[in-house]
Amino acid sequence: MGAAVGSAVEPAAGPTVRTGTPADMGAAVGTAVCGTDMDVPPSAATVSVMTLPGLSQRARERTMGKVIVISGGTDGIGRALAVARATAGDSVVVIGSSVAKGEAAARAVGAPDRVRFVAADLRSVTENERVVADIERHHDRVDALVLCANRQFQDRVLTADGLESTFALYYLSRYLLGHGLRARLAAAQAPVIINVAAPGISAGSVRFDDLRLERRYGPLRAQLQGGRANDLLGVAFAEERSSPARYVLYHPGFTATPGGTASMRQPLRGIVSVLRAIAAKPVADVLPPINDAIDHPPAAALTANDRGRLVDLSRPAFDLVNARRLSAVTRELVGSSPLLP
Ligand SMILES: NC(=O)c1ccc[n+]([C@@H]2O[C@H](COP(=O)([O-])OP(=O)(O)OC[C@H]3O[C@@H](n4cnc5c(N)ncnc54)[C@H](OP(=O)(O)O)[C@@H]3O)[C@@H](O)[C@H]2O)c1
Repeated sequence: MGAAVGSAVEPAAGPTVRTGTPADMGAAVGTAVCGTDMDVPPSAATVSVMTLPGLSQRARERTMGKVIVISGGTDGIGRALAVARATAGDSVVVIGSSVAKGEAAARAVGAPDRVRFVAADLRSVTENERVVADIERHHDRVDALVLCANRQFQDRVLTADGLESTFALYYLSRYLLGHGLRARLAAAQAPVIINVAAPGISAGSVRFDDLRLERRYGPLRAQLQGGRANDLLGVAFAEERSSPARYVLYHPGFTATPGGTASMRQPLRGIVSVLRAIAAKPVADVLPPINDAIDHPPAAALTANDRGRLVDLSRPAFDLVNARRLSAVTRELVGSSPLLP
């Protein structure tokens, strides 16, 4: 990891910015962490686990629908998917950093035995390791892993691992969960990973010479780097095949979710909120391609879908050489994590 482990990058203005370990974050319950309401308590693992009396979770899952893990399942697209799938009979694991939102999502299902909330700050490598261990303890298989966790950081914030927060959350966590859950995905009949991002667009690039964006940081630049990194992740994953899971990159388009506005400063927050009210699609409208991929995973190892249309994988965004390069760099960044294949 970088030399900046544990250091803080202070913004010129705006909310208090903290970096540190998840335990540090726990100590910050109720205070602004990275300008958000992240409130993972110390040593938090599973915050609410509810099962049918007399029937173990594993036994129940053998007799019911799919097991679906949703990172960023406490809000926006992930939350809507979690509520819909659990209500329809699937067993859903929701991961997010806000305990209040996680518990609210679990309550919204109205069938508490079908939803399990795991609180975690997915910007941290060890938190991803803890989440994977938790899922392995509670579930024999994972049919679908849906990756939605993301957040806009108006200022450059380093994680406890010394990485830029957007890169750590939007890209690295998706890399770690996808590979880390390989054994449970391999145990499913038709496993699929759905990475909800913005595949195939030409804007932005992975700054191999400056992954931490030390030289020129901006929230949009960081988001675009994360998006391009996820395109390359899909390509590398399909080539490496650490599990038989099909990989689906999905672009929902402009959708009426909180989508990061909470961390924006005015007047940008106001402008985006107005635009969202006028132009964004209701969240229910972007779920069908995700549901379709869960219920009927594509035959191809990798597909990219932009608002219901297939994306041409020969676009520069899916360059194989860059994908292999990012995969190699990521392994170096992560070191000896048990999540690596
Ligand atoms: N909405 C759009 O218009 C749009 C357009 C194109 C692409 N997308 C992509 O679609 C995906 C979902 O977007 P969305 O609009 O549904 O997002 P959202 O409403 O902002 O929800 C983001 C989710 O990420 C979780 N999260 C944030 N920081 C976290 C952390 N440190 N650890 C764990 N979880 C964390 C949040 O939960 P907590 O608050 O509980 O941490 C929340 O559940 C994103 O990848 C986004 O880039 C969205």
